[in-house]
Amino acid sequence: MKQDQHSNTPARIYLTDYKAPDFQIKDIHLYFNLHETQTVVTAKMNFVKSTAAKDLVLAGGEHVKLLSLSINGEKLATSRYQVEGEILTIKDVPSEFLLESQVEVNPEANKSCEGLYLSGGIFCTQCEAESFRKITYFLDRPDVMTSYTVEIEADEKKYPHLLSNGDNISKKSLGNGRHHALWKDPFKKPSYLFALVAGDMGVITDTFKTKSGKTVKLEVYAPHGKQERCKHAMVSLQKSMQWDEERWGLEYDLNTYMIVSIDDFNMGAMENKGLNVFNSRLVLADEKSATDTDFEMIESVVGHEYFHNWTGNRVTCRNWFELSLKEGLTVFRDQEFSADMNSRPVQRIKDVDSLRTRQFTEDAGPNAHPVRPESCLAVDNFYTATIYEKGAEVIRMMQTIVGRDGFRKGMDEYFKRHDGQAVTIIDFADAIATPNKADFSQFKLWYSQAGTPNVSVSEVFDQASGTLTLTLSQESELTVTEKAEGKTKLPFHIPLKFGLIDASGKELSEHNQILHLKEKTQTWTFKGLASRPVVSLNREFSAPVKLKWNRSNADLLHLIKFDTDAFNRRESCSKMLFDETQRLIADFQNKKDLVPQEEIVNALGTVLKDEAIDPQFKALILAMPSDSQLAQEQAILDPQAFFQAKLAIRKAFANTFHTELVATYKKHNEKNSIGDRALKNRILGFGISTEKTDWIELASAQYSAAKNMTDKISALSILCEVQNLATENALKDFHATWNTDSVVFNKWLSVQATSSSPMTFERVQAATKAKGYDQTNPNNMYSLHGGFAGNYLRFHTDSAETYKWYADELLRIDKVNPQVGARLAQAFTFTKKLPANLKTLAQAQVQRMLASDTLSKNARELLEKTL
Ligand code: BES
Ligand code: ZN
Repeated sequence: MKQDQHSNTPARIYLTDYKAPDFQIKDIHLYFNLHETQTVVTAKMNFVKSTAAKDLVLAGGEHVKLLSLSINGEKLATSRYQVEGEILTIKDVPSEFLLESQVEVNPEANKSCEGLYLSGGIFCTQCEAESFRKITYFLDRPDVMTSYTVEIEADEKKYPHLLSNGDNISKKSLGNGRHHALWKDPFKKPSYLFALVAGDMGVITDTFKTKSGKTVKLEVYAPHGKQERCKHAMVSLQKSMQWDEERWGLEYDLNTYMIVSIDDFNMGAMENKGLNVFNSRLVLADEKSATDTDFEMIESVVGHEYFHNWTGNRVTCRNWFELSLKEGLTVFRDQEFSADMNSRPVQRIKDVDSLRTRQFTEDAGPNAHPVRPESCLAVDNFYTATIYEKGAEVIRMMQTIVGRDGFRKGMDEYFKRHDGQAVTIIDFADAIATPNKADFSQFKLWYSQAGTPNVSVSEVFDQASGTLTLTLSQESELTVTEKAEGKTKLPFHIPLKFGLIDASGKELSEHNQILHLKEKTQTWTFKGLASRPVVSLNREFSAPVKLKWNRSNADLLHLIKFDTDAFNRRESCSKMLFDETQRLIADFQNKKDLVPQEEIVNALGTVLKDEAIDPQFKALILAMPSDSQLAQEQAILDPQAFFQAKLAIRKAFANTFHTELVATYKKHNEKNSIGDRALKNRILGFGISTEKTDWIELASAQYSAAKNMTDKISALSILCEVQNLATENALKDFHATWNTDSVVFNKWLSVQATSSSPMTFERVQAATKAKGYDQTNPNNMYSLHGGFAGNYLRFHTDSAETYKWYADELLRIDKVNPQVGARLAQAFTFTKKLPANLKTLAQAQVQRMLASDTLSKNARELLEKTL
């Protein structure tokens, strides 16, 4: 089997091929002799055979150089083993033995941010999913859990902190300019949770007292001088620990919890046992350098990685097809945490926006897959919105079905049954079902069937009998893959929270309930109604479906005003704006004038003026639909039409309510809460669509006066929407202030990359030459290239240049970092949906990339699907 990451014919792996491992490993003892270019890793492992297998087959990485092997102290002759590609086979091994291996790796040359590498002079590791094998030969699969003892030796001056998982047993100088630390992790763990960090860093420390009275040491490490910016992460960690005890009864199990901030990191953060490694953009924050959104994200990601200690580490995945077991569940937990720490409705709205923008798009495209996938080429490509966000929705629906208390009982049962094990998603569902006597046999289809179900709604009200008849039917189109595999789909169990609002605006609470749609079509009747009520369905977005429902503006306006479910109040306004944008897109394509309906513009005005609405919530109600949401409903992705349709609405609103908008902006500009900033900056976005000088002046003044990053970066991004001297000056000023700050510099990249300005492509190219830019840093590329690719208007242009530049960049980075390569490859996901001229251009670049013999299997898997 060929497993080479850069192979042209990577092997497909299947869920149904799962086989328990042939060997277990009782323990592993690692010795790291750290040197920048030549690190020697010695591993001693006690193997025990669990099947009749004769040979031991271990995984190794591309750049692991094998120095020596011995079994039970005897050096192995080269005839006893074979290294083929990344696989080491040792022939005819006994049923129990001690294997000692010595390998050499080169951390400095490793730019993949996987395995052992150097970032800003700090040694660090990243092993999930399959990169422990880039450190040493191992049974690198999550169902092999073992006890780790780790020794680290390094230069004493350059690397004063030597960290690994678990407890630090000893630390001593070796007298020759080098020193040594010994770590022992009392919990068995899979290899993907291993971590090592060695470096010269600053640290802040604090403690947390657990419910059983243990005092846990908390440490957050960051480059010297950045300690002040770690405080928010520390407080977030303490809140997470408290919340996990209160909500789920889960207590921390080690004596120390460490977080290390690293500049070069592919993902957001990693839950290594007792030693989390974080992307610096998700640790470092203060008012000057971080936005309100950054603060919220840090709290949620610190929570997420902490919550993994139980959902992921104590109970882990049997194999990577079960990834959502830990990720879907932990996302659900971090969403609940954020909802409890901040505003529950606001949190739900943001989570659903993200689900619709990212996951619904994925489900509608060539990379659609079930929450529990059935096959793949690259395990790395499993880290999708479907596994994470839809996985979290499926858990949320379970909780809706069995109730909050019932779900807690199920979670208790899950830990009782599976602590210390590597299990499956089905094991999880069974643990939740049993204490609740629930039947999840139909519900589990959410794990095996991909695609977003459509639910059509029709309502008939009979005035004479006071009866409302509601008919719901579900329809699930086959995804691209399901079609190719000739699959058919069964109806889902869809739990829809439901309520009725009467004509006077009162909630008819006797009708509040959950409608369980299980058949293809089902009808419900509601009696004793004095007049026609307005239906509020899928409250709190209780099920991840698309409602197909022609609703009158009058009904939507009624809900915006009166719905007791905050989610649906906002949803009603979003639906109105969404439908209107779609209508204007058609008008644009038919070369008609774009005239937004007065009724809708006035509805926005009413919301704006309603003093009873909390400003943060108001800012969300006034959000325009995202391009990717629009794209899902359109046969052809027409960026110009999307842009112009939205611009027409923004302009009409800004012109009609000019006075009120300016007044509201000024009012909130004098205040200083998250909500005030959100609303004020939303208003600025509407205002700037008019390109009127008073709005440009307000934005410019805000940029200069801003004392916090939220206001600063909002003003800058709004200025980037217009051609003005103020724009150039602000961009220069921001660069001068922040080009040496590896975190904030990314904001300068992304405001330029995401702008609708015709200058965008030019600016993007120039940014790659700017001071501060690092062409192998993942964050720089996500901000610049990722931002640009998400900018439909400026990325998809009929000059062949943007796609070509992007493909060159993709090939360059993919060669050294396949994970970043694969992320960038997602830009071509909707190639098939582009207008003919753009499609030809994009496909030519996809073909060119596929023809490259350096293309990683990660990027290849995604690009192949786009053709
Ligand atoms: N386990 C992942 C991080 C990871 C995934 C590392 C794949 C390497 C390969 C971690 O728990 C995670 O899910 N992080 C998210 C953030 C989270 C809040 C959703 C991430 O990194 O984006
Ligand atoms: Zn996670």
